[in-house]
Amino acid sequence: MSFVWTPALSVGVDSIDAQHRELFGRANALLLAVGGNREEQEILRTLAFLGNYVVGHFGDEELLMRETGYPGLALHLSLHTQLDEQFSSLRTRYSRRGLDARFARDVRAKVCDWLVEHVQGTDRARGEWLSARGLSQHALGAPSPP
Ligand SMILES: [Fe+2]
Repeated sequence: MSFVWTPALSVGVDSIDAQHRELFGRANALLLAVGGNREEQEILRTLAFLGNYVVGHFGDEELLMRETGYPGLALHLSLHTQLDEQFSSLRTRYSRRGLDARFARDVRAKVCDWLVEHVQGTDRARGEWLSARGLSQHALGAPSPP
């Protein structure tokens, strides 16, 4: 089953939605590589491709929350850390044991399903908070609101 971003997953901030679309595309490429039993090089490449994007994306979300004074920052950061840890433990496991059924299952549950839930729940709640304050289109790096 493919894993794609749809407008129903919008969190109300255009720049973050665009990043989520890219993120889901990369997660989908990883699922396809793992599910299709592709060559090790391709799986490693898709793992790194997704992992690198996640780092930049979380950095931008964190900057947005700091700049706008979002009160849910600490909880949100702890959830980002959770994905970082799950992702790095999957990478370690793959390098030790390679591709097995459990790895494929965990990529779906611990990375892909996690991302959908996070976007639908935590990211959307932040979107509502920003929107209520007219901050939805806050440009990263712009001066903080008064
Ligand atoms: Fe997030």
